[in-house]
Amino acid sequence: MSDRFTVRVGAGSADAAPDLWGLFIEDLNDALDGGLNAERVRNGDFEFNEADREGWHALTGWTVVGDVEVRREDPVHANNAHHLRVSGPAVLVNEGWDGIGLAAGDRFRFSCFARTQGAPVTVATDIGEGLAGAAITVATEDWQILEADLAATADGRGELSIAVPEGAVVDLDCVSLRPLGDDGEPLTFRADLLQTLQDLRPSFIRFPGGCLAHGLGLENLYHWKRTIGPRHEREQIRNLWGYHQSRQIGYLEYFELCEATGATPIPIVAAGVCCQNTPGGGVPIPESEMDDYIQDVLDLVEFADGGPDTAWGAKRAALGHPEPFGLRYLGIGNEDEITDAFRDRYARIEDAVRAAHPEVTVIGTTGPQPAGPDYEAGWAFARERGTPIVDEHGYQVPRWFHQNIDRYQAYDPDEAKVYIGEYAARSNKVRSALAEAAYMIGLERRPEVVKLASYAPLLARVGHTQWTPDLIYFNAEEVLPSASYFVQQGFGVERGERVHAVEVEGVQGEPIVLPREGAAMLRSDGATVAFTDVVLDGNRLPDVVTGAEGEGVLLGGIDPTAAGLSFTAERSEGGEGFMVRLGPEAPQSFLEVHIGGWQNKSTTVSRSDDGIGEAEHGPIPWTGVQTGEPVRVEIRLDGPRVQVWVDGELRHDYEQDQRPEQRVVAGVLSRQGEHGTEFVVRLVNATGVARTAAVELPETGPVSASVKLLAGAGPDEGAPGEASPATPVDVVVNGDSGIDLDLPPWSFATGVIRPVG
Ligand code: AHR
Repeated sequence: MSDRFTVRVGAGSADAAPDLWGLFIEDLNDALDGGLNAERVRNGDFEFNEADREGWHALTGWTVVGDVEVRREDPVHANNAHHLRVSGPAVLVNEGWDGIGLAAGDRFRFSCFARTQGAPVTVATDIGEGLAGAAITVATEDWQILEADLAATADGRGELSIAVPEGAVVDLDCVSLRPLGDDGEPLTFRADLLQTLQDLRPSFIRFPGGCLAHGLGLENLYHWKRTIGPRHEREQIRNLWGYHQSRQIGYLEYFELCEATGATPIPIVAAGVCCQNTPGGGVPIPESEMDDYIQDVLDLVEFADGGPDTAWGAKRAALGHPEPFGLRYLGIGNEDEITDAFRDRYARIEDAVRAAHPEVTVIGTTGPQPAGPDYEAGWAFARERGTPIVDEHGYQVPRWFHQNIDRYQAYDPDEAKVYIGEYAARSNKVRSALAEAAYMIGLERRPEVVKLASYAPLLARVGHTQWTPDLIYFNAEEVLPSASYFVQQGFGVERGERVHAVEVEGVQGEPIVLPREGAAMLRSDGATVAFTDVVLDGNRLPDVVTGAEGEGVLLGGIDPTAAGLSFTAERSEGGEGFMVRLGPEAPQSFLEVHIGGWQNKSTTVSRSDDGIGEAEHGPIPWTGVQTGEPVRVEIRLDGPRVQVWVDGELRHDYEQDQRPEQRVVAGVLSRQGEHGTEFVVRLVNATGVARTAAVELPETGPVSASVKLLAGAGPDEGAPGEASPATPVDVVVNGDSGIDLDLPPWSFATGVIRPVG
């Protein structure tokens, strides 16, 4: 027996947003070098350095036996300043990214820049003994590109080694090992990852970030022109995620990636200001450089689409791509703080693009969160300017997604349209994937407002991630798509032309019930803090000290809907702030008040449900906890209302969202198929109850549905770095004027219902 509900599909419909589902790619989590970039040699240019990460240097990634010297004299190019002088006998071994995986029959192209300091020299190279090997002869005293192909004779995992014989002295740079494609040419993109992206059928790809687009500091801002042309001439810079950007995937390759996946490109350029998280805050491009910067943005449009008679169109053709890439959108800014400097720089860039390229739709920015000061200010600015589309971001708990399915119904379709450029329900668990699916149905139902949406982040190398959750994990040999991946695929692969009104009967939203019992606790990861004058619900408590190792100290029981806590906190050691937890034990819902959260730069109230937490109010910028300076804190919980005072200032005052969660959600689109109207039905059952959806169509007659059903895993299965605990299975259901579809607990289905005959 399962609970039955009805999905009545109305005949009324609106045009679906044709570009709705796309991808967002950023060089984060080794997504590019060590990931999508097919290059297998790590730091082949010897350009890693201390600015990338503490302790990194020109030989990071290499093991050297013998006499080598890192030199800068007479480099291959000014942007590739370091090379190695190797005096034989010597062996250099590159570890790649966790080794180099290979299978018998794989072919690779080894290449490098080399020059001899004497007689011609034969240098041997191999990827593990008995796996694959070749030799090159270095014969000239000037830099020369040398190449050799290696064929793998066995399966295995190896490392690239280069042996220089005794008596020889050679200079080496730009060492590369790339797998060869079917055409015998070195691959640009790692084939299995590319296929995984193609299988999502994205309408667009947004790149190169994210934070990476505007950079930490003006010198770190992404300038597209510095990322095209021969690889060894590209400017390599530190990656703000704590590693190195080789730019081997630069702007041309991003456009080629769009082409290879059938996606329209959405480049994001910095809005003339670097990221506000730069120490000291966002810095605008100096006035004297703004005209050149705006010209660079206009040149980007020309590079993408200009004819061969234009300077940048000709450049594109010279780089091997005479055909235009079809640029229809351009994003300006990413999650920027809406300051006067931002407004000034942004306005000039947007005006210039809209005047010179009315065919390109500009996308503005509304801060890092789907609410709050930058969201409000970003929207007000977009309204004032008539910006056609704005980019909203939302990393939230699953509950938020279930509560916000109808969020965009309240948006005015006559204002800016919306691109949800980054979103994810926190965690890689099935419950997060289903929350995203429910929310995506809500996005699809509002095509007049929501035009584009992309999950973020996209790619993450296992063991090298700076951000979770991610959509697709991978290691040297395998691709590990998450449960969210299969949700994205359900939406990306089966699209409709019209979105239908749907009535759902027989199922209710789940009410939010605030817990009436719990406890108050103090913690201070990374700091030692003394709490004095502690008063909980009117009772004075003994003084408390919390340690840097993060052990919590329990203050006592509370009613989380009627509680009062105040204390004075003074840090004696460490660089972080402290935290107050209020509510029941995990995994039930609880609140955390962070005083000095996010690198001790803000105050925030976050909430956790089912072990998954996210900011609910804030972060609100703050000076931070200072060693030896007491901070007075007062917290009041009154029903859903939360109030937090810091040193007498009311910094948080809001009501917890008590709207019911929509956990059983249906969406329906239609399209013209070979035998008449086809209906694409999406159904989410994010509950522990088996249900049957009785889908009633507006058209009569026998039908057959091909369904992809993602089910079989519990809500808390799924973790970062792992493949999805469930994969979609094919189900066929027949019916008359509709279908009955069984939805197991915690499941998502996308079905295509076709007329029979
Ligand atoms: O997706 C990871 C990061 O999240 C992006 O770089 C940034 O835009 C957001 O804060």
